[in-house]
Amino acid sequence: MILFDEVTKTYDREVVFKDISFSMGRGEFAFLTGPSGAGKTTLLKLIYGAERPDSGQIVVSDWIVSKMKQNAIPSLRQNVGVVFQDFKLLDNKTVFDNIALALTIHKKHPHEIRERVNAVLREINLIHKANISPPYLSGGEQQRVVVARAMVARPIVLLADEPTGNLDDDNSEVVMKLFREINARGTTVLIATHNEGLFRKTGNRVFYINNKYIEKEMVA
Ligand SMILES: Nc1ncnc2c1ncn2[C@@H]1O[C@H](COP(=O)(O)OP(=O)(O)OP(=O)(O)O)[C@@H](O)[C@H]1O
Ligand SMILES: [Mg+2]
Repeated sequence: MILFDEVTKTYDREVVFKDISFSMGRGEFAFLTGPSGAGKTTLLKLIYGAERPDSGQIVVSDWIVSKMKQNAIPSLRQNVGVVFQDFKLLDNKTVFDNIALALTIHKKHPHEIRERVNAVLREINLIHKANISPPYLSGGEQQRVVVARAMVARPIVLLADEPTGNLDDDNSEVVMKLFREINARGTTVLIATHNEGLFRKTGNRVFYINNKYIEKEMVA
């Protein structure tokens, strides 16, 4: 499902990864961890085509991402959902419209959009806040909307970067439960986090990046 084969990535002259290889199976739920600056965000960006490797091969489902032309990247993005802390919601749009955006861009029928957005809003327990805008929500509610926005397109792969970084324990648990539900429907999920508490005793695979490569791979 996700395959890295001897991938090297540098920014200017700084080497982030040197010949890293790893793979994840379809429907797997895994974590990525390691010190600040180790390259967690960069690795996720390589998966969804926001950064290019210097060498090596990256495959996601049927796409050879490392060989894709720039104009093919949008088709990859339709199938790879991302939940990044700095992917802000649009404050001047309602919760409903924020979630609907991905479907509107792909010209889905308005009736289908309404059904699908309402279904995810029920799932995140925010149907009663559909028509208000993000600044009037709590941090935990906003993060649930960010997850819903990624879910609604029914991605093949879901990537999350410190998705609980700004959340208290209760809200973290709610967001992690949503990821589990998305995964139960077949989506492959990869979560980058510093927070060991998120993966402790989950039984999932954890990739630990340090010193420019995947130093350890363990089962939590
Ligand atoms: N756009 C960029 N241009 C140049 N260097 C970059 C860029 N993005 C990241 N880097 C560098 O690449 C390295 C890896 O950064 P990255 O953001 O992937 O780390 P991270 O593991 O996500 O860290 P954190 O835990 O702090 O989020 C760092 O040394 C960083 O300074
Ligand atoms: Mg990061």
